Amino acid sequence: MIADFSDSPGLMNSVSRLLRRVANRIHTPAATEKILQLDGDLADKGAVKASNPSLTAIVEQAWAQGQSIDLSTVGYGPAHWNNGKKFYDTPFPYYFFLAGFVRSQNCKRIFEIGTHFGGSTNAMLRGVADPSEAHVVTVDVTDLNPTLHQTPGIVKVIGDANSEGVIKMAVATMGDAPIDLLYVDAAHDFVPTLVNLGLYILLLKPRFVVIDDIVLNDGMRSLWNVVRVTQGASAINCADVVPAIREPNVGFGLLWLR
Ligand SMILES: C[S@@+](CC[C@H](N)C(=O)[O-])C[C@H]1O[C@@H](n2cnc3c(N)ncnc32)[C@H](O)[C@@H]1O
Repeated sequence: MIADFSDSPGLMNSVSRLLRRVANRIHTPAATEKILQLDGDLADKGAVKASNPSLTAIVEQAWAQGQSIDLSTVGYGPAHWNNGKKFYDTPFPYYFFLAGFVRSQNCKRIFEIGTHFGGSTNAMLRGVADPSEAHVVTVDVTDLNPTLHQTPGIVKVIGDANSEGVIKMAVATMGDAPIDLLYVDAAHDFVPTLVNLGLYILLLKPRFVVIDDIVLNDGMRSLWNVVRVTQGASAINCADVVPAIREPNVGFGLLWLR
């Protein structure tokens, strides 16, 4: 199934993203200094909070379980970075974690922000124990892989996750029952990612949230700091538990909300 909320040719989304980025960057020198100081304070506060040992066990179990799931045909697709291959047709390590997480936590109702080629989408779908029960909704401003539209269990939504049409589609498709997993892997900056989290945690009531790239850049590190301070023991960087899941300079966050 497919739902298209893209604006042709995507110009509105690009312009509004650009404007938001510029607006986020314009601060007086005093405000910039204060923000940096707050970042440091939040990092210190977050660092003293130990994660729940059960969360560590959940990560270990997911990784172990993922090793037995066949992802041989699940690849990342076209690279959007310069070093390395142009197209990846084999799974990245975090795909095994996602598949194993879905299987070990018995997730069925999943919402993903940031489809790209659908590698993570397909990995999570493979993790669902009974494929006939899978309901994986994935949103991206792009539509790179038409096979997703024909894949049972997957609903592909095209558009900006923080736009009215996509938000309404998400609620209409997921209904009022809480979802199992929200996976956020989209704009990789402080405000858009926090907006993703605020909107979709409020509306879809996920049991777990996974956030990719939590230490990729300053914006994501700041995001992870505020999340860690507020979520305390319910937040963990999976790469601290099993380094093979994700590189240390990228990170993979997990929140256990209920
Ligand atoms: C790193 S890629 C996702 C990779 C994919 N999750 C995987 O692991 O195979 C990030 C994607 O997020 C999408 N994206 C960025 N901002 C978005 C937004 N506001 N709404 C929807 N998609 C967005 C980009 O178009 C891009 O395809």
